Amino acid sequence: MDKMKVGIIGCGKISSIYMENCNKFGVLELAACADLDLSRAREQAEKYNIPRACTTDELLNDPEISIVINLTIPAVHAEVSLKALEAGKHVYVEKPLTATLEEGRLVLETAKRKGLLVGSAPETFFGSGIQTALKLIGDGVIGRPVSATAFMMSRGHEFWHPDPEFYYAQGGGPMFDMGPYYLTALVQLLGPIQTIAGITGKAHEQRIITSEKKYGKAIPVDIPTHVAGTLQFENGAIATLITSFDIFGGSTLPPIEIHGTEGTLLVPDPNTFGGPVKYRKIGESEWTEQPLLPGYAENSRGIGPADMASALLHGRPHRASGELAYHVLEAMWAFHYSSDSGRYYEMKSRCDQPAALPVDLEPYTLD
Ligand SMILES: NC(=O)c1ccc[n+]([C@@H]2O[C@H](COP(=O)([O-])OP(=O)(O)OC[C@H]3O[C@@H](n4cnc5c(N)ncnc54)[C@H](O)[C@@H]3O)[C@@H](O)[C@H]2O)c1
Repeated sequence: MDKMKVGIIGCGKISSIYMENCNKFGVLELAACADLDLSRAREQAEKYNIPRACTTDELLNDPEISIVINLTIPAVHAEVSLKALEAGKHVYVEKPLTATLEEGRLVLETAKRKGLLVGSAPETFFGSGIQTALKLIGDGVIGRPVSATAFMMSRGHEFWHPDPEFYYAQGGGPMFDMGPYYLTALVQLLGPIQTIAGITGKAHEQRIITSEKKYGKAIPVDIPTHVAGTLQFENGAIATLITSFDIFGGSTLPPIEIHGTEGTLLVPDPNTFGGPVKYRKIGESEWTEQPLLPGYAENSRGIGPADMASALLHGRPHRASGELAYHVLEAMWAFHYSSDSGRYYEMKSRCDQPAALPVDLEPYTLD
């Protein structure tokens, strides 16, 4: 067998790019899609030539489908993933892994009990940008990494998103929204996290929607909208991370910098697959732009499940693993816990640093 049949559950906004990309990967065959709203599933199936649009139960009862890609909303990630695992399917879920740590543990335990794999977005670290940065660190270009900065500075979403309420409700906020990209990239580049200290706050108790449909509606802000903190990695490196919806005049802070004993590395926006990647060594006055490694510089969502299928077929670990996603989920939670308790938080989970992608792969292959 050199292909695995895949079913997508959740045919909303992000599903299009998965549907466009899935069949490009030699190991995946997109066989069906499902949604609570069946008309949405039908529309997407027609648009992307997917053989079957159906209900979630019908999809899960199809014995030919071995991988479920769960693209539902975070509040039901656990429910849908657990159902798929119980039906004997491997699961790949959009970020975050689950809404709570308890749910995350249950999903990982269920997969283990059933002998199945769980994978989770983000998968942007497969992109040429982060892979090139990883290679430069591995080659010792900046020496031993000793610190990092990561900044996600935004003004929130109520001025453009038609239904922005969920960003300001429990489970929302800048860390749970964007933290997965930044933290997953940092773990890929520096390894697992050991300790976290955070302070959180909010600029406003309510926000006024200025996007069209609900213009003028006030919404309460139930969660912190500015999350600042410090992380220490197992390798000793110390990172400063800010994720914020409270930046109202813009910011010039770069997405991620890694500082080593011999130089500085500028890492591209971890919500993208491309570059640029730049570095400057001690004593140099100019930044050098490093040509990107061949691979995936475009939006390649779908590469996470493709890697999972290829890992299953080749008997190796998959990169965007449930363990990595759980480690990131625990870290996001820890910034808030540390702030609420006034204490450092020692991470309980650990994960392996995902292996670098080989650089000599044929397009749309992973082994
Ligand atoms: N939209 C983006 O740009 C984006 C980017 C990256 C990641 N994500 C992630 O992708 C996921 C989906 O986001 P989206 O923007 O596509 O959301 P969306 O609201 O556009 O789509 C979600 C879909 O899931 C369906 N759904 C909800 N509950 C379901 C259930 N129990 N069973 C079956 N179907 C169900 C809904 O009917 C809807 O069609 C989220 O986890 C989000 O964090 C979104």
